[in-house]
Amino acid sequence: MDQSIKFDLDLIKRYDKSGPRYTSYPTALELHEGFGEAEYLQHIEKSNAAGGPLSLYFHIPFCDTVCFYCACNKIVTKNRAHAVPYLENLCKEIAMQGKLFDNSRPVNQLHWGGGTPTFLSYEQMKRLMDTTRQHFNLRDDDSGEYSIEVDPRETNDLTIAQLRELGFNRISLGLQDFDPDVQKAVNRLQSKEQTFAVLEAARKEGFRSTNIDLIYGLPLQTEQTFAATLDQVLAYAPDRFSIFNYAHMPSRFKTQRQINDNDLPTAAVKLEILQMVGKKLTDAGYVYIGMDHFAKPDDELAVAQREGKLYRNFQGYSTHSDCDLVGLGVTSIGRVGDAYMQNYKELDEYDAAISQGKLPVFRGVDLDEDDKLRRAVITRLICHFELNFSKIESEFDIDFSEYFAPELDNLRLMKDDGLLELSADSIKVSSAGRLLIRNICMVFDKYLAQKQQQFSKVI
Ligand SMILES: C[S@@+](CC[C@H](N)C(=O)[O-])C[C@H]1O[C@@H](n2cnc3c(N)ncnc32)[C@H](O)[C@@H]1O
Ligand code: SF4
Repeated sequence: MDQSIKFDLDLIKRYDKSGPRYTSYPTALELHEGFGEAEYLQHIEKSNAAGGPLSLYFHIPFCDTVCFYCACNKIVTKNRAHAVPYLENLCKEIAMQGKLFDNSRPVNQLHWGGGTPTFLSYEQMKRLMDTTRQHFNLRDDDSGEYSIEVDPRETNDLTIAQLRELGFNRISLGLQDFDPDVQKAVNRLQSKEQTFAVLEAARKEGFRSTNIDLIYGLPLQTEQTFAATLDQVLAYAPDRFSIFNYAHMPSRFKTQRQINDNDLPTAAVKLEILQMVGKKLTDAGYVYIGMDHFAKPDDELAVAQREGKLYRNFQGYSTHSDCDLVGLGVTSIGRVGDAYMQNYKELDEYDAAISQGKLPVFRGVDLDEDDKLRRAVITRLICHFELNFSKIESEFDIDFSEYFAPELDNLRLMKDDGLLELSADSIKVSSAGRLLIRNICMVFDKYLAQKQQQFSKVI
């Protein structure tokens, strides 16, 4: 398939409104506390009956210092001792959850996210992986997709070798921006030397895919400063880039109030930056996967997209569509069968549940037929930029044009604007529509009308 993008300034300006990132559908806002342990157990039972591989997500919430922009679920502390009771409880949760899932199901995908997983010492990380291996069927032949988020300020060559030895084979490095003024404004001082030393160590140790996280829209950024950051990273040619749009929501994320609003780039400057990013990365041979992600054409994400096998889950894009996702640790979200579920968000509540021997699931949502149908439509569009109606019709036993008559009316406006082609049997997103894929998916989101103001801007 054609994986190109076209930057149309006028269109992007017109469609710049808030919207979800669709790492799930329905989004996390639909999870409710009427769904708890009992409902989770029912879904696990059905999931075991269906069988199939598993995906495991572990949340390690700790960070040594706070980055002012951060919207992640984290606990900032210099006190490493905080990790000790957490690890204790996480290991108990692994044992509890491991007992519930059929042990013959292989773990095809595993991810440690945060916070900062490398806040843990080697001994702690080893214990976590050993406990996981004891209770789940991890692949020991390096064939799983086992990934970790790493802060280069918290990592060195030795840590990278240790992570590889523990079984990780994909790695993502937080960077955001190299400009010293931007770094100061967001309280994240990080040198090129430490960043590239980690990237090179990961290559040397045989990590199969290296990703760099950047953010555009941070205070004091200009097109020139961000281009300089990008050029320096491009010289080291990581396999993937995640280039996030800064989500500035100081009413929700307190530390963002430390950022001076007047220092934020204007909408026009952000668009200049975005245009420059798209051009530089495509000129350097990367392809646009979708929603902030770029990859080298031979990276497995780009290959999966061309082969129609890409999927999207809470960790972003993935090649493992068929896995049930088990969320472990505070705030983690899972997807088991036709339901999403989340663990307690506050550490004391999480600890209390575990010490009472209970699963820490506190809310979730059961998907009805309409949710499953819309999820299939949104996933297809966000991963592959095209949708064949007849496939959906046979899978869900509907007449697409009838079921989605109002949605198709809305899409006609987007068609006239050049975002997509609409035929009697398909939607094909144009090169100009790809950067606005969220807007196209939003047309199919039943819950959105009431919720719009709670999401960050699309661009
Ligand atoms: C858990 S962090 C990555 C690991 C590690 N904690 C670090 O920062 O290096 C996940 C990523 O989310 C992105 N992020 C955090 N807050 C954000 C925000 N407000 N807007 C956009 N992206 C954000 C950053 O790019 C960050 O690298
Ligand atoms: S960006 Fe990473 S290191 Fe910074 S506060 Fe957020 S999770 Fe922690």
